Amino acid sequence: MIYLDNAATSWPKPETVYTAADMALRTQSGNPGRSGHKLSLAAGRVVEDARLWTARLFGVTAPERIVFTANATEALNLALHGFLSSGAHVIADSLAHNSVARPLAALTGVAVSLAPADPKRGVDPGCVAALWRPNTALVVMTHISNVTGVENPVHEIGALCRARETVFLLDAAQSAGVAPIDVEAMNIDLMAFPGHKGLLGPQGTGGLYVGPAAPLRPLKQGGTGGFSESLSQPAQLPDRYESGTANTAGLAGLTAGIRYVMETGIERIRAREAEMANRFLSGMADIPGVTLYGPPPGPTRAGVVSFTLAGYAAQDVAFILDNSFDIAVRAGLHCAPGAHASLGTLRTGGTVRVSAGCFTTAAEIDRCLEAVAALAAAV
Ligand code: ALA
Repeated sequence: MIYLDNAATSWPKPETVYTAADMALRTQSGNPGRSGHKLSLAAGRVVEDARLWTARLFGVTAPERIVFTANATEALNLALHGFLSSGAHVIADSLAHNSVARPLAALTGVAVSLAPADPKRGVDPGCVAALWRPNTALVVMTHISNVTGVENPVHEIGALCRARETVFLLDAAQSAGVAPIDVEAMNIDLMAFPGHKGLLGPQGTGGLYVGPAAPLRPLKQGGTGGFSESLSQPAQLPDRYESGTANTAGLAGLTAGIRYVMETGIERIRAREAEMANRFLSGMADIPGVTLYGPPPGPTRAGVVSFTLAGYAAQDVAFILDNSFDIAVRAGLHCAPGAHASLGTLRTGGTVRVSAGCFTTAAEIDRCLEAVAALAAAV
């Protein structure tokens, strides 16, 4: 099977991820931070180890500011519901995934302005600056689009936020583990990341960096293993936001994934994914009936590529690739209708998305190109 759906979840994982998760389930499987026996202490070390490695990867000097969640969606919900109150104005971008757009829509009394994203260049920081209002409380930006792979100029937008003392939330769902991120250098106050995509960890892992400028109301209340005499959530991080038993085995795998990323080097992973995307884009340009969306080939081109094929619905292309060629891709709107609106594919069934990961090979890309060429020839 050829797996080209890494934007949805990365697969395969490094061997060390499987081993670490298995070992945690077998030998470190007490409840972390709850009891005093050896198995509970071992589990606690697994969780804190994951926090240390995550903090190291993102340039976070206070590891307790990494809060683990089940995925990036939960992290974005914690950030948006926890920070925003009625009367606030938010600037977001048209590439926003529904994990940003839907919580924003659900918040009563919160006004949202959308900065339009050019399919090849992303948002223009000048457009973002023009949307500021006196009550702008938050800017939330997609780092890399899950539809086209376009990258927003988040360094510039972070600098704008800092100059205007506005909280900056980054959705790093497609960039964590693939693009270099230093939250302090990039003026990021809140950052949501999945553990199971570019960080190569298991599903059910993710987190939120909570900077000092962005105190949040907790999304959930419950046991934290300490301060049990009080009916209020503790003020202490990360406990304030981490009620309930952690995903110890998942976090053991996440540590192994992050270590693999750091040992390999983000720049190397990025260059590899760009090489695969560029190879795919070049090959697709020669196939009749193909329309490509998003940025052209380039040295830091993300591994996510969207296309349509004349004579086929996007879902049919994905179905045939899976059933006749054993190639896994994702088709449709990818939970990001705004991105498709700007591509003109919202009302036409979306696009077919091919997403390379750090283990994708040139031979796999070539097999996918041959399959698309065969479909094109059959019209
Ligand atoms: N957000 C993930 C995707 O783009 C699931 O497929």
